[in-house]
Amino acid sequence: MAEIEVCPLAELPPGASRVVDAGPEGVGVYNCDGTVYAIEDRCTHDDGKLCEGDWEPETCEVICPRHGARFDVRTGAALTLPAYIPVDTYPARVRDDGMVVVELPD
Ligand code: FES
Repeated sequence: MAEIEVCPLAELPPGASRVVDAGPEGVGVYNCDGTVYAIEDRCTHDDGKLCEGDWEPETCEVICPRHGARFDVRTGAALTLPAYIPVDTYPARVRDDGMVVVELPD
């Protein structure tokens, strides 16, 4: 596992997200109600860039900008068609120094 630094938590408050250029596809990082989550930035429907789309912090759902599939950022589960395969999730946490970090597989 490789730990990547995303940003200080102060720059990723609840309801905020950002895309990090890391891993094979990029990583979307979300603060959903005070907990940080990370998913791969690739829609499983047709390989579109998923995390450039809108997301809904109230339900922790990201919406693919290409065809509108929804995914749960907490679990990666595909919630609506046309996607039905989950996206990869990565462990995300806030380090003791306040930095948001994500663990990516080697
Ligand atoms: S590429 Fe995401 S829904 Fe089609």
